Amino acid sequence: MNLKSLFNLVKELYDTPEGGFIPLHEPRFLGNEKKYLNECIDSGFVSSVGEFVNQFEREIAKFCGSKYAVATSNGTSALHAILHAIGVDQDCEVITQSLSFIATSNAIAYTGATPVYVDVDLDTLSLSPTALEEFLHNNAQKLETHTINKHTHKVIKACVPMHTFGHPARIEEIAKICKEWNIILVEDSAESLGSYFLKNGVQTHTGLEGVASALSFNGNKTITSGGGGAILTDDEALAKKLKHITTTAKAPHPYEYYHDMLGFNYRLPNLNAALALAQLEQLPSFLSSKLEVAKSYEEFCGKNGIEFIHAREGTMPNFWLNAIKLEDKAQRDDFLTQSNANGIMTRPIWYLNHQNPMYKHCQNDGLKNSIYLQDRIVNLPSSARIKI
Ligand SMILES: Cc1ncc(COP(=O)(O)O)c(C=O)c1O
Repeated sequence: MNLKSLFNLVKELYDTPEGGFIPLHEPRFLGNEKKYLNECIDSGFVSSVGEFVNQFEREIAKFCGSKYAVATSNGTSALHAILHAIGVDQDCEVITQSLSFIATSNAIAYTGATPVYVDVDLDTLSLSPTALEEFLHNNAQKLETHTINKHTHKVIKACVPMHTFGHPARIEEIAKICKEWNIILVEDSAESLGSYFLKNGVQTHTGLEGVASALSFNGNKTITSGGGGAILTDDEALAKKLKHITTTAKAPHPYEYYHDMLGFNYRLPNLNAALALAQLEQLPSFLSSKLEVAKSYEEFCGKNGIEFIHAREGTMPNFWLNAIKLEDKAQRDDFLTQSNANGIMTRPIWYLNHQNPMYKHCQNDGLKNSIYLQDRIVNLPSSARIKI
C-alpha cells in the first residue's frame, strides 16, 4: 500500500504543514457560536430552561423530518430515556450489534435489561436483517403480543440497530422483521445526523423508522454542543413522556416540586443548545465538505487498490468517519502504527461490546462479520475542512 501518498493526501486535505497533527474528527466553529453563547449568558438562562433549547428542538426536528425532538444531555441519555419510556426493564432483552460504541450497550444495561448481540452486514457495518431474522428464527418464540427468548424466557422487547460511521443500516428490512415479531425498533442514530436513504424513491433521514431514535452532539460528531443529544420521534404521546422524564418528571407548577414518576436530569442545557443551534445552521456546509473529503479518499483508494467503505446504493451517508478495510489484522496494526507516528490520527473499530467485561456473558450469534471487520477496518481523519 502506498502509505506515503495517502498521508500526503490527508495533509493536503487538511492543509497541515509537515510535523502537524491531524485529529480524527475535530469541531469547526465558523458561524454564530460566540454570538449565541453571549446572548444565552446575557439572558441568564444557561441551564435547563430557555429559548435556545426550545428552538433547537424545533430546528433539529425540521432538519431530520421528525414530528418531534426532545433535546438531551448526550446521546447515551437519549437512548436510555427512550428505552426506559417504552418499558424496557430487568425482565427484558434488547437485540443490538456488538460492533458499536459502548454507549449502545450501556444505555440498555442502565434499564436493567440484557443486551443480545446479532451480527452486522459487511457493507453497512450495521445490524444485519438477515442475521436478525436467523437469530429470531433459531432462538425466539413468538407469542400473541410479544416475543420471548426460548432459552432465557425473557421478553425480547426492543431492537437497537446503529448506523455505523453514518452508513445507513438496512433499516426498512429490520423494521419489517421487528414488526413481524412484535419487537419495538429504536434507532441509535448517534453517528448518522445528515445520513439519508431512499425510501420509495424519497430521500429520508435515518432515525425515523423506529418508534424513536437517539442523536449525539458529542465533540467528535458532525455537529457538537460540547455534550448533547436529541431524541427524534413522530409519536406525540411518547414525545411528551420523553420530555417529562428527561426533565425529572416534575409536574408543572409555579413553585411546588412534585415529581409524578421516576425522572432523569437529562435535559440539554440552554447554553449547550445555543452552541448546537449555531452548529446546526452550518450542518449543510459541514456535510458537503465531509462528502468532498470522502470522495477524495474514495478516488485515492480506487487508484491504489484499497477497499473504501463507500455509500451503498440508495444511501447518502454523512461520512461521519471514513473507513477503509485492510487485508488482515497485521496490515491494520501496521497502518495504525505508521499513520499515528506520522501525526495522522487513525483508529481501529472499538472493542466489540461483548468483549468488554460487563457484556461477556451476553448471548450472541457468533458475530462472524463483526470480528472480521474488527480485524480490518480503520477510520481516517474525517473532519469538515477548515475552509468550507
Ligand atoms: C453509536 C453511538 N451510540 C451512542 C453514543 C453516545 O453519545 P454520547 O457520547 O453523546 O453520549 C455515541 C457517541 O458518542 C455513539 O457513537
